[in-house]
Amino acid sequence: MHRPLPRSWYTDPAVFEDEMARLFAKTWLPACHGSEVAAPGSYVTTRVGGEEIAVVRGRDGILRAFNNVCRHRAHRLLDGAGTLKATITCPYHAWAYGLDGTLRQAPHSDGVAGFDKDAFGLCTVQVGEMAGFVMINHDPDARPHDGFAGLERLLLADFPDLPAMRPVRRREAVLHANWKLIIENYLECYHCDTAHPSFGNFDMTTWKHIVGQGWSRQGRVPAGSEDGRIDHDTIEGLSAWWQWPGVFWARALGPDSFVAAFHEPLAADRTRQLRVVYTASGEENAELRAFNDLFDTVFAEDTSVVESVQRGLTSRGYRGGALVEQPEARAGWSEHGVHHFQDLIRGTIGTHRGA
Ligand code: FES
Ligand SMILES: [Fe+2]
Repeated sequence: MHRPLPRSWYTDPAVFEDEMARLFAKTWLPACHGSEVAAPGSYVTTRVGGEEIAVVRGRDGILRAFNNVCRHRAHRLLDGAGTLKATITCPYHAWAYGLDGTLRQAPHSDGVAGFDKDAFGLCTVQVGEMAGFVMINHDPDARPHDGFAGLERLLLADFPDLPAMRPVRRREAVLHANWKLIIENYLECYHCDTAHPSFGNFDMTTWKHIVGQGWSRQGRVPAGSEDGRIDHDTIEGLSAWWQWPGVFWARALGPDSFVAAFHEPLAADRTRQLRVVYTASGEENAELRAFNDLFDTVFAEDTSVVESVQRGLTSRGYRGGALVEQPEARAGWSEHGVHHFQDLIRGTIGTHRGA
């Protein structure tokens, strides 16, 4: 029997700071979809891994990411999304940077002894791409694409058009829950019978959940294929992935639409969740709209349970329970995905925390 993580790991600001420094500052994290920064000069701003960043496609076609902060006296540089001509100009004192991040102009600085423009370029953030999504890493020493090549292959096998898809629906919410509770809830369907009235008659008997290196995949196994070995060559029709540490990727309605949920920890007990639906056509037809409305309800049900758990973790009456793990045949009701995730968390911050 496995015990869950200590409750303080969901409530203690010091653990939150540890996670941001040891995990989110060193891991590849999705920033946006490539279609949002496809044109030369286009940019997107977002908050990823505890930092405000700007993803910019240069006029030279090269994709770059910067900390969205001016090197002069720290004003924010860009807002929202849009298209830049030749420079990123700070709204405070008009320092102007090229789209490659170099400082081009600092008004009235020519008389300043020792002032060297080359020393004040924007700080860059590493950029990669995975299945059409822009990934960033705050660690300058991180290896390119480290850690997601295997998952990329799986996603593209099922969704070869993923890089060409475009966002059609966004839902953003701040959940009053630690980010790990949201992930753990996603990593088991033990709660599906009780906590998801919106599922209706949901057949759990053919639900499977396979765990890889820093990812997992769950969904339905068509009748007749349960006897095969449990790996991604024999399971068909699986529909939902999780990627370490906090990304959900899922099929929406068929191979032409796709859903992602990105989680940005804001505090020990607060997490921003951004859900985006993408389609190959760039449109949301009536059938997909109805499906996505159902997804909204499903996520509302999940929000209700994780926020309840966050409140419960502050109770003296909660002393740590047990994970209910099942053999493969009963994977639908098993919490082995939670176990895998919690082992990764222990491996990341556990030694430091003495657990
Ligand atoms: S803070 Fe940006 S130009 Fe002064
Ligand atoms: Fe759920």
